[in-house]
Amino acid sequence: MQGKLIVDPTNQISKIDDRVFSALIEHLGRGVYDGLYNPDNPLSDANGFRQDVVKAVKDLNIDLIRYPGGNFVSGYNWEDGIGPKDQRPTRLDLAWRSIETNQFGLHEFMNWTKQTGTRPDMAVNLGSRGIDAARNLVEYCNYPGGTYWSDLRKQNGAEEPFNIKTWCLGNEMDGDWQIGHKDAEEYGKLAHETAKVMRLVDPDLDLVVSGSSTREMATFGSWEETVLDHTYDDVQYLSLHRYYDNEENDLHNFLAKSVDFDEFISGIVAVCDAVKARKHSDKTLNLALDEWNVWYHSHKQDDETAPWQQAPHLLEDHYNFEDALMVGTMLITLLKHADRVKIACLAQLVNVIAPIMTDDTGIWLQSIFFPFMQVSKYGRGIALTPKQTADAYDSKDFTDVPYLDSLAVYNPEHHEVMVFAENKGEDAMDFSTELRGFTAQSVIEATQFAGYDIKQTNEDQVMAIEPNDHVTLTDNTLQTTLQPLSWNMFRIQVAN
Ligand code: AHR
Repeated sequence: MQGKLIVDPTNQISKIDDRVFSALIEHLGRGVYDGLYNPDNPLSDANGFRQDVVKAVKDLNIDLIRYPGGNFVSGYNWEDGIGPKDQRPTRLDLAWRSIETNQFGLHEFMNWTKQTGTRPDMAVNLGSRGIDAARNLVEYCNYPGGTYWSDLRKQNGAEEPFNIKTWCLGNEMDGDWQIGHKDAEEYGKLAHETAKVMRLVDPDLDLVVSGSSTREMATFGSWEETVLDHTYDDVQYLSLHRYYDNEENDLHNFLAKSVDFDEFISGIVAVCDAVKARKHSDKTLNLALDEWNVWYHSHKQDDETAPWQQAPHLLEDHYNFEDALMVGTMLITLLKHADRVKIACLAQLVNVIAPIMTDDTGIWLQSIFFPFMQVSKYGRGIALTPKQTADAYDSKDFTDVPYLDSLAVYNPEHHEVMVFAENKGEDAMDFSTELRGFTAQSVIEATQFAGYDIKQTNEDQVMAIEPNDHVTLTDNTLQTTLQPLSWNMFRIQVAN
């Protein structure tokens, strides 16, 4: 099999926004409790924060943390999570039919973001609540002092405002599973009024309005149009969510779903631009892909989990090697849309459909941790338009799917070109990257994630990224072999 990538610094998609390396943390299962917060565990510090988790989160170079949900936020009273812990109410979390103790709330979250070097992306409840709860929360978080809510923040230990910049106007409000689900007209009007009032408290907010939960929703497309009719001038971002599965156990069709992902993003961009044209607007709306991942392994187990437990094992997918390849191809697809996708949150981060898993004695890293970590660490800079040629295949739902998925990122500060390449085929691939308009000097690093059984999971820490020692660089062309079913990265030093 053959695959070739040609890149050129004059042919750029866009600078990659740091916020595309973000994640969701929801009050769900063992995401917060047991995951990042466990005061009884010796691995935790005095705040109750698991230090092994803090380190792994730092290794992923995460930027924003979207919080506190997800579906959870649509039934959440944020006031339950502030003040002395022994006075906080225990409640039924109706989204996940669990017990919520509220021992981890706003201040704990803000402290945790400081420890992990991340930043908050706060969701407000537009399901069971609305404008009033949202404006009070903004006042509590961002107003300096001298008012009821800002002084309460000080009293609770935070003298300085949190200054939270990014806010989500609810979550998946198009879904009938959502607490307080609304139709597009109702939600659009509420989001508009909420945005207006939140901005009266703090004019500098970046707001994300909720788009479709999945591409399969009956209202997909029309939801966005109606909601944006009401909110186009109020918000900076439209959200979209996408999860993939391999329920049918068809590897090639699974990995081909990156084509669907690409079309999904392009379709939403087209809807945004159609509203822009209709409104004669100068403003271009960008996207917040604020939930994406593989999710399906835990569905059956979750159906059998008894309700009303505190921190139950929910959505604990154990990811295998083919899932890592899927996450890899989704990452490349995301970067191909770097001109419009400015925020993207891997959903989620710890224990719940997560790259990081905990037990009482430590953490283990899932297969999907590795491609995410590499792209998050090295995929910083300018995404270059990929001109790619490769053999292709047909699968159950897709035709002409290239076996190769590849993209290069140019980092002008470090004088580096990073190439990410995935071989979706079961045969080795002769792969070359031609760097036009660069003077390539040396290969700084070449790695491969390959050779594992596609159903292998990583509880025993078997899987790891290995060096690829068979790479040549001649006349601005990198040449190597991509192993069958492999994720690869090459870092090339280029002249100033
Ligand atoms: O991430 C898990 C759930 O998926 C979130 O709570 C919800 O927003 C989505 O449906």
